[in-house]
Amino acid sequence: MDNTSQIEYWNGPAGQKWVRDADRMDVMLAPFVDAIIASVLPSPGQSVMDIGCGAGALSLNLAGSAVNVSVTGVDVSAPLVELAKQRSAAVSAGIEFIVADAAVWRPKEPVDLVISRFGVMFFADPVAAFANIRASVKPKGRLRFACWRPLQENAWALTPLQAAMHLLTTPPAPPPPGTPGPFAFGDADYVNRVLMDSGWRNITVTPWDGDLALPGTTAEESAAFMLEMGPLSRAMGEQGIDPETVKGVIVAKLQELAGEDGRVRLKAAAWIVEAEA
Ligand SMILES: C[S@@+](CC[C@H](N)C(=O)[O-])C[C@H]1O[C@@H](n2cnc3c(N)ncnc32)[C@H](O)[C@@H]1O
Repeated sequence: MDNTSQIEYWNGPAGQKWVRDADRMDVMLAPFVDAIIASVLPSPGQSVMDIGCGAGALSLNLAGSAVNVSVTGVDVSAPLVELAKQRSAAVSAGIEFIVADAAVWRPKEPVDLVISRFGVMFFADPVAAFANIRASVKPKGRLRFACWRPLQENAWALTPLQAAMHLLTTPPAPPPPGTPGPFAFGDADYVNRVLMDSGWRNITVTPWDGDLALPGTTAEESAAFMLEMGPLSRAMGEQGIDPETVKGVIVAKLQELAGEDGRVRLKAAAWIVEAEA
């Protein structure tokens, strides 16, 4: 099993959308940068690997918060890695970004810490991938990542999809458990099993619950973002549906949910996962 289809996906139109929306996405997902690095700040001289680093927000934040650490961001998406490199140009030293499949790639020297913000749910063979990642870590090295809980618990993604469901050709079927994708690690028992079977120990899976402010200062701007990103956008792409035909219902739904300041905040649910090599 290899990751060819995900590699194509993240190097195609989806990768371009993530490049276009990187700044807005980073504002929305900022709480997870804090949740991931809060208690794992590496000591001076330590090395860190960021899996599925995308445009590099987590790597860059960690490099900015810790002293004298080296950070390597690894991602299969060439356009996102290119953006990460541009963003890191202003950072003095100790950070590099590499286009590689984290399921098989290894750093020259084992690292002290592996982190990821929503970048580890796309492996065709998660046990093999996490075994490879473990082999890239020093004895007792640490792993800490965020992954989404099920779609049904994530109103930020579910609400636009439900609002537009009647305009889709067919309701998107939930993917079979374990299928690579944003919600593949929704089941905590499954996450535990994958990590145990790949040799990780002292695993903890802790719920994270909060509201995410959708990008945009009005319902119209937030709707434009949700037509680009998330499961609704994916379903429209697969079914060849023009976003313009769906826009009206999404704007109306988000207007209904907007706060007094016009911003839309919706519930999000994730796991913060920790383990030791
Ligand atoms: C949901 S995005 C998250 C990006 C970034 N961590 C962030 O929070 O902005 C998932 C990322 O995982 C990357 N990815 C998917 N499969 C991968 C693999 N096998 N190895 C490395 N990166 C992968 C994608 O290219 C994409 O950038």
